Parts: sequence; structure tokens; C-alpha cells
Amino acid sequence: MFKKFLEQLRWKRLASQLRKPEGPAGLEVARRMNKANEFLYDFTLDEMLVSNHQSILEIGFGNGKFFYKQFNRAEELRITGLDASADMIREASTHNQDYLEQGKLVLIKGQSDKMPFTSGSFDIIFCINVAYFWEDPQDHLIEIHRVLKPGGRLYTTIRTPESLAAMPFSQYGFRTYTVEEWKLLCHLNNLSFIRSSHVHEPETTPDGSICSVCLVAEKKQL
Ligand SMILES: C[S@@+](CC[C@H](N)C(=O)[O-])C[C@H]1O[C@@H](n2cnc3c(N)ncnc32)[C@H](O)[C@@H]1O
Repeated sequence: MFKKFLEQLRWKRLASQLRKPEGPAGLEVARRMNKANEFLYDFTLDEMLVSNHQSILEIGFGNGKFFYKQFNRAEELRITGLDASADMIREASTHNQDYLEQGKLVLIKGQSDKMPFTSGSFDIIFCINVAYFWEDPQDHLIEIHRVLKPGGRLYTTIRTPESLAAMPFSQYGFRTYTVEEWKLLCHLNNLSFIRSSHVHEPETTPDGSICSVCLVAEKKQL
């Protein structure tokens, strides 16, 4: 009984650190996420087909280890990172000093349901393993719609409901979405649903039983 309680406490703490990594434990969780999720960064960037001179926003970048992967995809990109955790902003700043000094990257502390950006700022917005934490996803999608340029795209990569259900921490406040639910949310928020691409994650589970999906939506042209 007590062992089960301790185990639940462990998963609950991990869930809370995944939602908002803070303190020494948060830094360690972020390092582990780098290992677990690098594959998803490559997969999502493949889906994005970035072009030169684009303006990109990443919501929930964790410790920011993979901004270089975005810069490697095209020339003259302007990249902004938004994260709710001050500790992640600090950690990402140490990993990306050169980009910050060159003015190619800006890191902002904040939440995606209230973003400090001018309307129509970004060609691409993406987030990996973040939409689980949106209590009311509409609040976030309204803001994302506002700051996207007309014709701009949103790429949301999340684990499928079946895969997330196999992760014990997900019972503590993680929201999952089927493709059909996401399509409806897009429709309600004036975003055109474009496609969903599924992938099995060899890095996370050698048997590839964990599956993620990149959901692509577009802000309608004026
Ligand atoms: C589970 S981690 C994912 C990190 C990284 N994207 C990855 O897949 O490895 C979630 C990150 O998103 C941030 N976050 C969660 N909700 C957010 C929100 N609504 N707006 C901005 N950042 C958020 C957290 O602080 C954390 O750094």
C-alpha cells in the first residue's frame, strides 16, 4: 500500500516537472527529455519544410538543446522560443549564447494562451509534447491563430492517446487528443486542418510501440 503511494507520488512529481521543469530535478528531467525526444524534433522538422528567411515560434522548448537543428534547416531564420519555466529560459540561454548574441534567437518566458507578440508575426509555430498541458486548448489556439501570419502553419506533435496511456505519469493532468478531436478544435478556431503524420519512435522504445503524431493546421489566407 505504502509502496504504491510512493510510486504514485513519484509519477505525480514527474508529471509536474514535465509540465513545468523547475529546480535541479527540472534540469535533470529536461536532460532526459533531450534523449527521449530528439527523434521527435527531427521528425517534426522534416514535416515543417522550413524555407529561408522564415519567422518561427517554438512553444515549450524545454532546455533549448535543439534550436541548432532549426537553424541548420535554412538560412536567415528568425526564431523565437516561448516557455513557461524561468529555469528553462536560463538553461536554454546558456546552450544558445551565440544565437542570442547574434540576434537570431529570442527567448521569452510566458504561456501560449497569452503571448506577448504582435498579431501576424510568425510563418511557423510548433510545439512538441506541450498541448497535453492546455487546460482549455481553445484559449491557446485563439492566441496561436492571432500571432500566425495568414497562410502560416501550426505543427503540433504529441503522443497518441494509446501511447500516452501506457506512460504512468500521464494520469496526472495530461490531456490527450485524437486526430478527430484536433480537427474539430482547428475548425472552431479558424484553422484549416491540413494533415496528420504518424511515426513510431524507435528511440523511446526499441520495439517502436510508442507512436506520436504531428498535426498540421494552417491559418486561412486573407
Ligand atoms: C514536456 S516538456 C517538452 C519539452 C520539449 N519540447 C521536448 O519535447 O522535449 C514541456 C515544456 O513546455 C513548457 N510549457 C508547458 N506548457 C506551456 C505553455 N502553455 N506555454 C509555454 N510553455 C509551456 C514547459 O515549461 C516545458 O519546458
